[in-house]
Amino acid sequence: MRVLVHIDDADIWREALSKRLPNAEIVTSDSDRDTPADYLAAWKPPAELLEKQTQLKGIINLGAGVDALLNSPALPKDVPIVKLRDAGMGPLIADYVRFGVLYFQRDFDRYFAQQIDAHWQEYPLIDKADWPVGVLGLGAIGAHVAQALAADGFPVHGWSRSPKSLEGVTCHHGDDGLSQLLGKVHTLVTLLPNTPSTRGIISADTLSQLPEGASLINPGRGALIDESALLDALGGGSQPGRLRGALLDAFDAEPLPADNPLWSHPRVRITPHMAGPTPVRDAADQVAELIKAMENGDPLDTVDPQAGY
Ligand code: GLV
Repeated sequence: MRVLVHIDDADIWREALSKRLPNAEIVTSDSDRDTPADYLAAWKPPAELLEKQTQLKGIINLGAGVDALLNSPALPKDVPIVKLRDAGMGPLIADYVRFGVLYFQRDFDRYFAQQIDAHWQEYPLIDKADWPVGVLGLGAIGAHVAQALAADGFPVHGWSRSPKSLEGVTCHHGDDGLSQLLGKVHTLVTLLPNTPSTRGIISADTLSQLPEGASLINPGRGALIDESALLDALGGGSQPGRLRGALLDAFDAEPLPADNPLWSHPRVRITPHMAGPTPVRDAADQVAELIKAMENGDPLDTVDPQAGY
């Protein structure tokens, strides 16, 4: 069995997968991208690579989001796709979101802004129990984040398109459920997949349903957010809008172009898509298990290209 790996740092993956699949030949796209492989384990494989690999029995997406792969014009139609489900990313993204929620709940945004003017002013503490957080998207990562925040003491509202139930989290679904959630939360976290039905879900309409002074954290996908509606909701430097601030990790165009106004907005904090890097050790365990399951013909939770996740 031959497994082709395509990702930055592919050698680390080759080593990790070789240990876990001792009978397989693991090659990287840097050394051999043309010899037919049985499985492709890849992050954003280029079209030329997909076109040449005509004998694949399965594709393993080396990340949680499959949008880049599904949008490739060269994606073979009949090859099953599986993706990493959490694989150690959940706890990393939960930490990122914890940082963001505390940044707003404990007024760090205000204190750091005051520092610029050497201004000393303390604000009354709003208890965690009075700081409801909304998590849009209750897949493996969204569910992990929602439950981590609930365990920290925040009242958490989760939203998914179809009904779900999660211990410790008030779950909402459908369009009405989204409005119910938006009306309640002090911080909104977006962890939905990028699909035709989620693109631009953070719009002028949804932002206007948030309480005055709410904040936004997006460790998911940039395409979820209508950037100009976000900028309007944030207001100008001296004229705050309905939204108090945003912590953003993912953007429609990455790297975020230097002239994008989000870079210089005083109430926006930007990180370079680092919230949930794929931890190789955990993920390699999962990839090896997925390949074994595909070889054995075991039933698998494959990606549904129509749904987009
Ligand atoms: C990263 O963005 C991922 O989808 O894993």
